[in-house]
This record gives sequence, structure tokens and C-alpha cells, in this order.
Amino acid sequence: MRQVKIFDTTLRDGEQSPGCSMNLSEKIEMARQLEKLGVDVIEAGFAIASPMDFKSVQSIAANVENATVASLARCTKGDIDAAWDAVKEAKHPRIHVFLATSDIHMEYKLKMTRQQVLDRITEMVSYARSKCEDIEFSAEDASRSELEFLAQCFSNAAAAGATTLNAPDTVGYSTPNEMYNMFKYLSENVKGVENCILSSHCHDDLGMAVANSLACVQGGAGQVECTVNGIGERAGNASLEEIVMALKVRGDFYDAETGINTRQIYKSSKLLSNITGVPIAPSKAIVGANAFAHESGIHQHGVLANAQTYEIMKSSDVGIPQNSMVLGKHSGKHALKAKLEDMGYDLTDEEIEEIFVRFKNLADKKKNITGRDIESLVLDRRHTGVPSTYELISHVVNVGDGLPNTSVIKIRRDDDKIMQEVAIGSGPLDASFKAINRMLHKNIKLDSFSLNAVGEGEDAVGEAVVKVRSEDGRKYTGTGLSTDIIESSIRAYINGINKMEEESED
Ligand code: KIV
Ligand code: ZN
Repeated sequence: MRQVKIFDTTLRDGEQSPGCSMNLSEKIEMARQLEKLGVDVIEAGFAIASPMDFKSVQSIAANVENATVASLARCTKGDIDAAWDAVKEAKHPRIHVFLATSDIHMEYKLKMTRQQVLDRITEMVSYARSKCEDIEFSAEDASRSELEFLAQCFSNAAAAGATTLNAPDTVGYSTPNEMYNMFKYLSENVKGVENCILSSHCHDDLGMAVANSLACVQGGAGQVECTVNGIGERAGNASLEEIVMALKVRGDFYDAETGINTRQIYKSSKLLSNITGVPIAPSKAIVGANAFAHESGIHQHGVLANAQTYEIMKSSDVGIPQNSMVLGKHSGKHALKAKLEDMGYDLTDEEIEEIFVRFKNLADKKKNITGRDIESLVLDRRHTGVPSTYELISHVVNVGDGLPNTSVIKIRRDDDKIMQEVAIGSGPLDASFKAINRMLHKNIKLDSFSLNAVGEGEDAVGEAVVKVRSEDGRKYTGTGLSTDIIESSIRAYINGINKMEEESED
């Protein structure tokens, strides 16, 4: 089978999507998970964009072992210098230069003629190649470019030393048939294409990004650019998990495969959602909560008789925690460790110890601890792993109709000072968050809030995710877990504040 490289741009194009910005340590954590997932290329950012972007690309380059680390650069010396400085310490560095090639972009955005664009490609790709052996050239808005001119642009890029030629559907406008034809044409008309890999990069404005990417593979693409959970500019990029599983499940049709460890897909998706606070839609293919759920009786009956009646892949193939070994109050550390290993977590003894304490607390409140519960404990550790300036001791909330809702919150500060405050509000959470703000003399705003049940049943754990905004406008994601949903929400709010405090101490 033909090998298709997976170029992950979650940390660059993905991060451009509203609400998905990540801080440095979150980006490094995500990059490490992408390595476990087995992506071939990690686009770590756009080094010239800001000092923070530069630092992120540089740190990811230093932390990644096997994957190629790329930085984006416009076709200018300044951008290319910054990209190279940021990636040069990577084991496998790549500079990714781009220039728009459609008439509308050249005329209105670049104000350049076709000849100027061709010359700039030659000049800047050669310049980038003088620094780095692995150069990708992207023709922005390729799918709306005139084909003959596009092929000329790529021929120039190949002659100047580019090794990957990327033809994006930047505005998500094309159809699968058009993308297939474009890739076929490029495979046959770009001079030097035999020494390069053709690459696709599709956006999802019309909901066709995955179908378009697969059509590009059929047309000759040897690299697909995509993001975890399909996050990205506007409607997002092609979703990594959907492309990978389509190629795995329909390898017979595409005659192509990827090097992705599919059992790490679910974990990567959950981690990203946990970092950004952006939930995964229940009906999202591959990783949504309902992706493997059978509701109708007819389907359930079929699956019980033979899973293949309604299942084209197994949830275990993408690493969804199985309920095969349910733990409970009497389970010991060994059982928890075995379960964590079975779920693919590679944790230190200290981390297991911490999770075990949380596990015991949960087991006091919940009879059966499932794989999903354990996964939420592991993910929650990421957030509560930050130093706790404030810790919730207790809360009492009065809710009703006709009288104001009240909340009393008791918190311990890291110097052991105990603080207590009461507030009224339009609901139990409004009252609780107001009490915390008043106690800390802060004007923190709640930007978003979501609550999900982890697993099923009345005693399911409630996972709250909040986005809080500091007075200077910075946003922090906080999470909280409890079988009491008001407690999980208050914990999430305090967790967000602890992150704010941690950053202000840096
Ligand atoms: O969508 C696009 O065209 C891009 C390029 C910079 C690769 O993101
Ligand atoms: Zn893009």
C-alpha cells in the first residue's frame, strides 16, 4: 500500500480557531501526544507571528524526537530567518513557506503580478533551502488558482529545492472531484514533481474537507494536512481522526495507509478538548460520545448477534476506554495501575499515586468506576497539577424559586489563610462565582461554561469546564470533577483562577 504522511497543524492552523489558543506548556503537552499518535510532521506554529509563537516552536522543536517539526513562514527573508531559528534544533526541521497564487489574492492582497509571484517563489524557496534541507512550499488558495500557472509555481518551487508541494483549498470552496482533478493535473504537469511529495490542506467551509483530502490522496497526494478534532481557521481543517480511520477502514478502496497509532486517537482528541475547553460534539465521527453508541432496538439486536451488522470499526481501535474491567471501592493500586496501562497511559509512580488518591475519593461516592471515569481523573490531574493558590474547602448553596439563590464558599489560600464569603445570584453558580470574586477582590468574568456527564447513570461524575477571563483580558480554562455538579463547577472556576495566579507569578 502507498504510505500517506500525516502533517498535523493543530498547533498552527488549529490554534487559529476561536477559543483554541494554548499556552506554552499546553502546546508542548499536545506535541508530545502527537508524537505518541505517530504523526509524521508537527507544524508547531508561525515563528514570526509573536515572541510567544517563536518560543513555542522552539520549545516543541527541542521536545520532539521522531516527528519533523515545521514552522510556517511567508515568502520573506525575515519570516524564513525566524522560522529557521525556531526549528533548527529539531532532529528533523522543516521550513514551510507559502505565497498565494490565485488571481484574487495576487491582485487584491499581494498586489503582485504573476511574474513577480513566480520570481518570489524561486528566490525565497532557494533562500529557505540554503538554510534547511526540508522545505515545503504552499500555494495559498491553490484550488482557486489557474491550473497552468499553479503548475508553473510548483515547478519553480521544486527547481529551487522544495521537497513538499502543498496545494491548499484555503477557503473550503472545492469539491472532491475538482480536488482529484487538480492533484492528477499537478502529478502530470509539475516539473520535478517526481522528487517531491504532493500535499493537501483542506478547509471545511462547505463540510467537504475530509472528502476533499481523500480525493487528493486518490489524485496522488502523499501527505495530508489536518488537525485533531478538525479545529482550525473558520469552519476548521480536515479532521485527522476521520482521514486516518477512513484510510484504515477503507484501505481496500484507497490502497493507501498512514503510520498513525490509531489507539492514540481518542486520547489525543480528549486531551485537545481538555486543554482548549472546547467540547467534542456528541455526533462527531470517530471521537464523539455517540460515535459507537447504538440507540435503536433493531441496531442493538443486530450488534448483539454480530457486531459487524452495524459496526464498521471497533471503538477499541481508536482507543476508547472499554468497560471490560470496572473498578470499585475495594480495588487497590495494582488494579488501578493495570487498568491505566491497559488504557495506554504511561505514567510515573508519583502520578499513579496522585490518581489513586482521587480514585479512592471518587469510589466513596460512586459504585462502579469505569474506564471513562479513570480517563477523566487522568485529564483532571493536568489541570489540578498547577500549584493551587486557592483550594475549595466547602460550599453551601441554597437554590429555590421566589427567593434569591445564595452561596457560601470557604477557601484555603496557599499560606493557609482560610477565607469565607457569601453572595446572592441569579442561580447557584452565579452566586458561587460572585462569592469567590468578592472574597478575592477580583473582577473575573466567566466567558463560557459546559458540563458533561462522564459515562452513564445517576451517579455519573459531572465534568465542568469553564473559560474565565482576567481583568487584563487573558483567558484560562479550568476544569472540575465531582459527582455533585455544583461542586465540579466551583472547582472548575477555582482551577481557572489558580492558572491565572500561576501565570502572574511567572
Ligand atoms: O489554508 C491555507 O492555505 C494555509 C496555508 C498557510 C498552508 O493554512
Ligand atoms: Zn489553512
